[in-house]
Amino acid sequence: MSQQDPTIEQHSLASHSLALKKKITEQIEEQGDISFAQYMQMALYQPGLGYYSSGNHKFGQAGDFVTAPELGDLFAKCMAQQFQQLIVKIPTPIILELGAGTGQFCYDCLLELDCLNTLPEKYYILEVSADLQDRQKQKIATLPMHLQQLVCWIQQPLAEDFNGIIFANEVVDALAVEVFKVEDQHYKQMRIAWDDGFIQQWQHFPIQLDAELLNKNLDLQEGYVSEFIPHLADWLATISHNLSQGVVLFVDYGYDSKAYYHPQRDEGTLVCYFQHQANFDYFSNIGIQDITAFVDFTAVAQAADDCRLSVDGYTSQAHFLISLGIQDKLGDSEADYENYYKNTTEMKKLTMPNEMGEKFKVIALSRNFNEELLGFSFSNQLHLL
Ligand SMILES: C[S@@+](CC[C@H](N)C(=O)[O-])C[C@H]1O[C@@H](n2cnc3c(N)ncnc32)[C@H](O)[C@@H]1O
Repeated sequence: MSQQDPTIEQHSLASHSLALKKKITEQIEEQGDISFAQYMQMALYQPGLGYYSSGNHKFGQAGDFVTAPELGDLFAKCMAQQFQQLIVKIPTPIILELGAGTGQFCYDCLLELDCLNTLPEKYYILEVSADLQDRQKQKIATLPMHLQQLVCWIQQPLAEDFNGIIFANEVVDALAVEVFKVEDQHYKQMRIAWDDGFIQQWQHFPIQLDAELLNKNLDLQEGYVSEFIPHLADWLATISHNLSQGVVLFVDYGYDSKAYYHPQRDEGTLVCYFQHQANFDYFSNIGIQDITAFVDFTAVAQAADDCRLSVDGYTSQAHFLISLGIQDKLGDSEADYENYYKNTTEMKKLTMPNEMGEKFKVIALSRNFNEELLGFSFSNQLHLL
């Protein structure tokens, strides 16, 4: 089959973007101005049109961004090592992966767990995007049958009690955020209105969201702009309240709240990705570019407290992967130098401070599991949260 003419592709991207823009303006006409969180939710997840809900999101080298599981299988192999510690200790353990992207992590992780002889009872994927679910199903269909049979897609968090692991890589950064500004010593909420184009307005927050912000006890200067995930504890409770025994592991780019709301970071962390280029124009390329914000891990830890989860570990991705022996998973340089070289390059991307090593963090939240997790044996920086 011949490749699609790039001008045709550009045209269909533009008309796709226009269709979503129309949908958002219709929402504004119907409801009046909308919060930035509502705008971001539609831009990313509007059924059939949002960036993640349509076929336009692009993972990998040829797309908009590359995630750790898309670099190769080292990340998943290390995680499998961490999962093994839990799987052998917890009765009838399952894995629940949130936002599985292309399904690459699930694929590599199950292969590795099979080699380690520690398969879970089931591997559930909770994915909000129907399009990505299809992509994941195609990928998982290439696994050996006994592994395929473990994977199940769910539309809602598990309704019955379960034990095991809840895992999410780069999902928390994809949750819609509220944008705020400090004005006259009050928090003002960014609202999006329409006047021949999208425009921003700043208004008082509804009481509950204002309270969420005040609870953070931030000391910010006039004019400071940043963001936060609204109702984070509710989201965490929804996915974890039926976890009887086990661990929640989130990997994402972010900081503790002191660094997140640093006086110098006074324009927030919101960023868009389009074909590997970062930009700050969330009103352009609607539906065909990613919009994301860094994660405030202190907020995640506070949400965990509210959900009866104990915060067990917090460290950089580099330290986590080194604790799990990434350096021993490179293969034999003499037997297969090409593979060894590929793995070394991948390890550098995952662990070097100027690549993903420091920017990405891992947080572990547990319920009724008291053993120290292997991934934090090299370093645990809970004191930062
Ligand atoms: C940046 S991608 C990361 C994909 C994958 N985990 C990876 O590392 O390649 C974000 C993923 O989270 C999914 N997602 C966003 N919000 C979600 C939610 N509330 N529950 C489950 N998945 C969600 C998106 O559809 C997408 O699959």
